[in-house]
Amino acid sequence: MERFAIIGGVPLQGTVHVNGAKNATLPIMAATVLAAGRCTICDAPYLRDVTVMTRILESLGAEVRREGRNLSIDTGQIDNWEIPENLMRETRSSIFLMGALLARKGKVRVAYPGGCNIGPRPIDLHLKGLRALNAQITERHGYVYAETKGLRGAEVHLDFPSVGATENIMMAAVRARGTTIIRNAAKEPEIVDLQNFLNKMGARIRGAGTDTIKIDGVESLGPISYTVIPDRIETGTFMVAAAMTGGEILIENGIFEHVEPIAAKLREAGAEVEGGETGIRVRGTGRLVGVDIKTLPYPGYPTDMQPQTMAMLSIAKGTSVIIENIFANRFKHVDELLRMGAQIKTEGRAAIIRGVEGLTGSAVEASDLRAGVALILAGLVAEGKTTIDNIYHVDRGYEAIEKKLQKLGAQIWRLEEPA
Ligand code: EPZ
Repeated sequence: MERFAIIGGVPLQGTVHVNGAKNATLPIMAATVLAAGRCTICDAPYLRDVTVMTRILESLGAEVRREGRNLSIDTGQIDNWEIPENLMRETRSSIFLMGALLARKGKVRVAYPGGCNIGPRPIDLHLKGLRALNAQITERHGYVYAETKGLRGAEVHLDFPSVGATENIMMAAVRARGTTIIRNAAKEPEIVDLQNFLNKMGARIRGAGTDTIKIDGVESLGPISYTVIPDRIETGTFMVAAAMTGGEILIENGIFEHVEPIAAKLREAGAEVEGGETGIRVRGTGRLVGVDIKTLPYPGYPTDMQPQTMAMLSIAKGTSVIIENIFANRFKHVDELLRMGAQIKTEGRAAIIRGVEGLTGSAVEASDLRAGVALILAGLVAEGKTTIDNIYHVDRGYEAIEKKLQKLGAQIWRLEEPA
């Protein structure tokens, strides 16, 4: 198993280029199923989740090729509609294929996506939306079977602005007869990216980025090339890294509007943040002060930035409170931060962080993608050596993060440990 070793204490300096967004790439990979032919997704990141989604598409009959930074996907010969259970369990994103396969093949079978380390991951809103579009859905023996004699446009009100449910319904609705309206839709930038991808294929969608999305069904969609947006969570992660190590980092391709809630909190904590045409520059100006965070759907503070922000607040002056409103169990990183000398108490969805002067390097373990990267950030400021196990979690969402950090001056190494 691989692990990271880090010697803390270096203020990070320099320029970083973030990759294409994981959470835009994955639904767009599913959307290629909607058009028989070869699509190219440009700037698709080299991530474990992208590899798993590639294997899922291949299991359906697609032919996928890596061409440098691009992913070329030919779905012309898709002849299967059952997603292998073992692959379903490796990434939740396979659920996105329900809408696309219903539209393309009129039927789909998926296994219930595995829960993961941040809490239960229900799919009731996905199924409610697809049923509204005239899909007949049965759930038995751990599988979900959906089929339709013809998707029909409908009005769907989401109880919660679920990102995945919004995307799944969009992908089914583009080929439904008539108009679909999604109310209380998720507004994340990745939803807008999916709308732009689908409209380039010939769909007729408007309203992504707002809470109401309208989709007029069309007869057919064509294959295209498309460049995904930069990853706003990777951008935010480097912004926090600059602030908490007291360094200065330019994220040269960061889109300021996508990380505005993160910039606002970093400024409140005492860091300097500038956003413009040449990217986003963050400068740490000494010890930060504690701030309160509530995670909310976009444009609120992103839950995917919560662990990284907690690492930063663990060494800020004063007390901070984090309320995790999106996932029921997204505090797995707390125990590992406590091992490094942080002072944090959790009570349900609340975490109270009493800032300490500094952390001490320890042997810790990643429990999920964002918790893992939070421990890297903690190691970058801790006194002495930190080792992090189970770093395959980090590789799910960050491409060669140790190389990017090394370029910024960090003392971090990826070690191949005997199993
Ligand atoms: C997407 O997950 C992201 N993943 C997550 O990123 C992100 O944390 C999340 O959106 C919220 O922004 C991808 O895009 C691949 P949700 P998703 O449906 O779609 C509840 C990362 O680290 N819910 O918006 O699964 C659910 O339990 C990952 O990159 C239902 O109750 O998130 C949760 O409490 C982690 N019923 C809340 O909604 C449903 O049918 C938000 O879930 C669906 C969701």
